[in-house]
Amino acid sequence: MTTTKVLDLPGVRRVRRIGFGAMQLAGPGVLGPPADPARAEAVLRRAVELGIDHIDTSDFYGPWVVNELIAKALHPYPEGLVLATKIGAYRDHHGAFAPLAHPDALKAQVHDNLRRLHLDTLDVVYLRHIVDQPGITLQDQLGALVELREQGLLRGIGLSNVTLEQFERAQAVTPIVAVQNAYNVFDRGSAELLDRTAELDVPFAAFFPLGSAFVADSRVRGDQVVRAVAERHDTTPAQVSLAWLLHRSPNLLLIPGTSSIEHLEANSSADRVELTDSDLAELNALVSEGAAAE
Ligand SMILES: NC(=O)c1ccc[n+]([C@@H]2O[C@H](COP(=O)([O-])OP(=O)(O)OC[C@H]3O[C@@H](n4cnc5c(N)ncnc54)[C@H](OP(=O)(O)O)[C@@H]3O)[C@@H](O)[C@H]2O)c1
Repeated sequence: MTTTKVLDLPGVRRVRRIGFGAMQLAGPGVLGPPADPARAEAVLRRAVELGIDHIDTSDFYGPWVVNELIAKALHPYPEGLVLATKIGAYRDHHGAFAPLAHPDALKAQVHDNLRRLHLDTLDVVYLRHIVDQPGITLQDQLGALVELREQGLLRGIGLSNVTLEQFERAQAVTPIVAVQNAYNVFDRGSAELLDRTAELDVPFAAFFPLGSAFVADSRVRGDQVVRAVAERHDTTPAQVSLAWLLHRSPNLLLIPGTSSIEHLEANSSADRVELTDSDLAELNALVSEGAAAE
């Protein structure tokens, strides 16, 4: 069964459904620089050569390291490359994510991303880490981003790590250009939100599409059923898991993360794997929709 190759980020541009998540380019634990910065830059340049036109990043990664690598490797950016970033948090002394969610702090983070990426306008800014905090409302947070959009500092406002209820509330304030939550063949906790965004033609960028680097032997990359399907198609479990996402819903955008050129090349061609109805039935049955992470 074939799948569509491109998807509209409304008001931003049309992108390939297989993009690149840049988080793996930082050092271990997404902290500090990578062991080989030249190799990380080579991964980014290869992504563009392969026709990848959507890179997911954030000042959180490193922190700052990944945005600096992107600017060093790719600026001046090729026409049509969409850079999507995330704001709403910072890394504390231990590297943990902590909320930085006041509307003024959000504005400062947009300016920081612009400066580090050497951009005048950010394509997509995801508001992440949406937690209820005294004195901070989602409406005020979005209001700050709408102001920046009106000033031409960003094109699209997205939401990340969001519930269906928060998404609906946000949509009532301003159009949401994309949602970014975890979703993969073994983590379908956001299925209801995915289906709702599909109904509304809002792109859903699935993070952890390959089960994340935090799980060393993720079932997404090694489960028996996934492996058996891969063998039938003479490919790898990673490609099958990505192809399954492309089949799952036409509004899914993929942002697989890797620090390896070989994996990048394989991931970028996952849309060549045409899963059959019986492959899909087997993969669909691995966990039920709505089931959270493995
Ligand atoms: N919004 C959020 O809160 C949030 C949270 C996490 C991530 N993200 C975004 O989502 C992106 C994707 O998530 P992720 O990078 O954490 O996890 P992921 O894409 O699910 O998995 C990355 C892991 O898979 C491995 N891998 C990649 N391609 C492979 C292949 N073809 N064969 C075998 N192994 C492969 C990578 O190792 P190698 O490096 O060795 O290839 C790495 O260990 C991130 O880069 C980031 O942009 C967003």
